Order: sequence, then structure tokens, then C-alpha cells
Amino acid sequence: MRKKFLNLGRQPLANSFLPSKSKKILSKEFFYNLSVSFNTTNYLVSVTNPVNPKFQYTDKYAHRASESFTMRTAFAKIAKRLNKKYLPKIVMEIGSNDGVFIKNFPKRKIIAVEPCKNLANLTKKKFKTFPNFWNKKLAKKIFSESRKADIIFSANTISHIPNLKETFDAIEYSLSKNGVLVIEDPSLLSVIKNNSYDQFYDEHVYIFSALALSNVVKKSNLRLFNSEKIATHGGSMRYYICKDSARFKNTQKLDLILKNEKKMKLNNFLTYKKFSKRVINSKKKLIKIFKILKSKNKKIISYGATYKSSTVFNFCKIGNNFIDYVTDTTLNKQGKFTPGQHIPIISPEEGMNKSVDFAFLGAWNFKKEILKKEKEFIKRGGKFITHVPSAKILSK
Ligand code: TMP
Repeated sequence: MRKKFLNLGRQPLANSFLPSKSKKILSKEFFYNLSVSFNTTNYLVSVTNPVNPKFQYTDKYAHRASESFTMRTAFAKIAKRLNKKYLPKIVMEIGSNDGVFIKNFPKRKIIAVEPCKNLANLTKKKFKTFPNFWNKKLAKKIFSESRKADIIFSANTISHIPNLKETFDAIEYSLSKNGVLVIEDPSLLSVIKNNSYDQFYDEHVYIFSALALSNVVKKSNLRLFNSEKIATHGGSMRYYICKDSARFKNTQKLDLILKNEKKMKLNNFLTYKKFSKRVINSKKKLIKIFKILKSKNKKIISYGATYKSSTVFNFCKIGNNFIDYVTDTTLNKQGKFTPGQHIPIISPEEGMNKSVDFAFLGAWNFKKEILKKEKEFIKRGGKFITHVPSAKILSK
């Protein structure tokens, strides 16, 4: 049974940056109600009413994974590790974005699947790319009884797909006998510990725990056999999954992770009710900080036009009332307006000027990288505001 525990209110699509604030554009903006539920049977945490993926993964998809140094480095490292460990003949990536992970393998081994046409167009000149959604039909088109994938990789994508049963059935069909599915997705335990409710937005249909994922993949004759914590996206997990009959033994590391999740009561609805209360307090605290700073005539901007900050701004109703503009390094986002609250987005070169007193860390998951980059801002007395793990002004 699914039980609702969090209501984040009326939300736009987190990726739908507006080209202008004209009446015509604003009248077409899509909103839905974002609430989050817990499944008491398999422990899965999900957006209660997911948006149809056809509206989300279009030829206007803005996110380019290659633009972050942190992600480029992390993907190069894991690609090297997987290649050495599993010696794959065929590697497929589901949700290959701009190729940041899969380009690390030899061209002849690569199969990329990317439904956003603008991104698929970027990589199809370099290696085999299918501009499609991942499903059983596509799996049967790519693979056969004699041709299977040794590694299937998918970062921040499986948790975006509403139909998990079909997704994992199609993966089971596509994997070789001892093939490995490696997925990376935000960690539910980190969300609960950090009060990072902004990990919930339309694209994050699920935030997995190892407990829930192991239950879900079983239904497709797959087995979660290993898992590890990773630092990306503010606390993620990497999961290793194989066919039920494959040679891999379940690792001690996985045992510990499952035990810890039980200890932290991720299988108990009450945990989520308590989380929901903390989220409401976090909202109140953040608004209070903004109000105090504004009453002192401070100039506040936001750093990073992230999808996560779209949830925060629309949940807390933070717009031009508090924030002058948002800076973002992505050329595609510059000159546009944030979804729902319509705050203008400009480049950091233009935006991080001497008039800025405070910058909200929209990209809090890149805090280290950003604080290093913005030494000048901090040196002259500029301060960052964050809401993770609690709403506060950072002391340095
Ligand atoms: P993500 O959290 O979904 O990966 O998005 C990060 C966004 O933050 C992306 O639009 C780029 C932006 N960003 C900056 O503007 N400056 C930075 O220094 C970093 C690290 C990210």
C-alpha cells in the first residue's frame, strides 16, 4: 500500500526554463501537484503522480552532464574501474546524456540510449546512439539471444522512469549470463539525513534505498549483489545488479548497507512522517533568513539554476521578492527564466559582481567546487546561504 507523507505543492517541470516572460509563454507553463509516498510493502519512495516522460525528455533538454568537472572526473574513474574489472565486450548506457560516461570506452563496444533528441544528436556522430526511451521493444531491437550486454550502466536515469517493472525486465533480457547492471542514483538515506527534500522533483520519480531496490529487481529475476556510497549529487549510491543465477555472491558491503538502512528505519512509515515535519520547519527557517536579509536591504542572488532549487523556490515561494537573479554556467540556461518563479538566469561572470551580498547555494551538491571557485566573493565578505542539512548562512 502507498501512503503519502510529503506535499511539496504546485510545481512546474524542474527542467522547463522559460525563454521569456511573455503572456503566451507563461500561459503554456505546465504545473502539477508534487507529493511523495511510501510503499509499505516494498519500501519504495516515489512521487505520487508522476508526469508523463514524453513531456520531460524532449529535444530541449537542458542538462549537460559534461559541464561539471566533478561529474566528468567521477565518470571517467568509474568507467576505467568497470572496464578493468569486468572486461566487457559490449557496454550499454541508458540515459547517455552528452556521452560523458560512455565515451570512455572504445567506440566498437558502445551502445548509447538517450531519448532527448538534442543530446542523442550530439553523440550519434561519435558512437552508436539510439534516440529512444528504454523499454522492452528497444531491448529486443538492440539485443538477441546471441548478442547481449556485459555492462549496462545508468546514472541518474533509472529513478526517472515510472515503469520500473518493464525497465528491469528489459534489462534482464539484455544482460549476458554474467553481465552487470551498474546504476547510480541519489540515496534515500542521504535525503533523510540531510533534509534535502529538493531531491524530489518531477524527474526523480523514485529515490531508492538499497532495501527497496533489492525488492523491486527481484520481480524481474535480477539480484542486487553489491552497493557503495558515492559523493555525487549530494549523496548517491552505486548499485550492482545481476541476473538471479549469475556467478556473483552478495557482498558484505551490501549486507552492512541493508542493515544500516533497517537501523535507520527506512522500512518504517513513521521515519517519513518525521522527515515531512523537518521539511516544513526547514521551509520556515529559510524564508525567515531571506526576510531578515531583505529587511536589511541586502542583495541576494542564487548560485546554480538547478532542478533541485526549482523545488525549493516553488515550495517556499521564493522568487524575485527575495532573489535578484540566478547565475549558471550552462549557456543553454543563461538568458532564460527559472520554472514557476520566473527568476532571470545570467552567467556567473556577469552575476558574481561586487554588489552581491548573499548567494543561495542552488547547486549545494557542488559546494566544495563552488567555494573554491568563489574565493574572491568570500574574501570581500560575500556569504553563501544553504538549506542543507538545515537552513543557514554559511560562516565562511
Ligand atoms: P545539477 O546539480 O543538476 O548537476 O546541476 C548543477 C547546475 O549548477 C548546472 O546547471 C550548472 C550549475 N553550476 C554552476 O552554475 N556553477 C558551478 O560552479 C557548478 C559546479 C554548477
